[in-house]
Amino acid sequence: MPELSSDLYGTVSHKLAALKPSGIRAFDKEVSKIPGIIKLTVGEPDMNTPEHVKQAAIKSIQDDDSHYAPQAGKPELLQAISAYLKKTRDVDYDPDSEVVVTVGATEALDATLFSLLNTGDKVIVPTPAFALYFPLIAMTGATAVQVDTSADNFVLTPQHLEEVIAKEGAGVKAVLLNYPSNPTGREYPKELLESLAKVIEKHHLFVIADEIYSDLVYGVDHYSIASFIPERTILISGLSKSHAMTGYRLGYVAGPAQIMKSILKMHCYLVTTVTDSTQAAATEALTNGLDDPLTFRKSYRKRRDMVIDGLTKLGFDMATPQGAFYIFAKIPQFFGNDDEKFARDLATKAKVGVTPGSAFGAGGEGYIRLSYASSEEDIQECLKRIGAFVKGLE
Ligand SMILES: Cc1ncc(COP(=O)(O)O)c(C=O)c1O
Repeated sequence: MPELSSDLYGTVSHKLAALKPSGIRAFDKEVSKIPGIIKLTVGEPDMNTPEHVKQAAIKSIQDDDSHYAPQAGKPELLQAISAYLKKTRDVDYDPDSEVVVTVGATEALDATLFSLLNTGDKVIVPTPAFALYFPLIAMTGATAVQVDTSADNFVLTPQHLEEVIAKEGAGVKAVLLNYPSNPTGREYPKELLESLAKVIEKHHLFVIADEIYSDLVYGVDHYSIASFIPERTILISGLSKSHAMTGYRLGYVAGPAQIMKSILKMHCYLVTTVTDSTQAAATEALTNGLDDPLTFRKSYRKRRDMVIDGLTKLGFDMATPQGAFYIFAKIPQFFGNDDEKFARDLATKAKVGVTPGSAFGAGGEGYIRLSYASSEEDIQECLKRIGAFVKGLE
């Protein structure tokens, strides 16, 4: 095995070296070693990709669909994404110039942030938030301004946004919203998006809208901020969650043509284009599989209610999640505010894996995130174990 030459030690990118590895992955790795543990840590559907979508991928391979696709994506997929966005959000995107297919929503975020941000720019991120946002923003040389939303049931209010913009002064370039949210499951209602849009417009900002969970909502409708301020919105989504396709790696970005030119340039430098068979599968999902998420939704909703009910009875508090597949629960007061200790004790003593809330930024301290994308049996067993743990210590 090659050993790095000692004269090259410490020469990697300083920006990268300054970043801490993902706390979530590190914690997950640590608790995974505990024998008998059931993990509610992962943000990954436990469902399988619908059969007709798989067949489309298989057919693409068998048809020798194995050459470089156009860099922005295959025309039929770009058309399907544009039609899907029109149908679900009433927003108009030209498939020829305003949509780019990416390697998951992750690359959509990479390409967008690197296209948009300069050193010294600030991006307002309502927290708790998807932890990937922080290192990505840091890598561009910009700064993430964390805005703790825990006092407002985990949504950013227009008043709060105004306050933060006033405090930060010059340099604020964009707001990064994620709804339904990972980790809180909170959705932004239409009126709230409309009033946030006014503030964003007034201050001449971009908004990056990560809507990857938009098809997984429970009892509420999903709206996009793009329907209010399309000229300053970069909309990001993908099929990982809606069609249980995390392993296919399919996401997309939509926005005004002028900014999409830069995003496409970045996308080309990063990955050139997305795998043909993945694009074929996504075209099928967005053409003949628009109802596929409904089955998932029904099942997730049942499990969500199960977890809310179980945890509430045990003294946990939470703002009702209206989408995604996460519960962000406040640890009962008796245990104090150290969520990392609580999660570690729960893992070692009760053999239940959850993610400490602090991993998601400001406002997450004293909380834990549970993913209910697990079987009902596992969820019931976890609730039993958490119950025994909590009662045993109280
Ligand atoms: C809020 C949010 N955005 C983006 C992603 C990345 O999704 P993808 O698998 O499409 O890269 C995730 C994945 O967990 C997520 O939770």
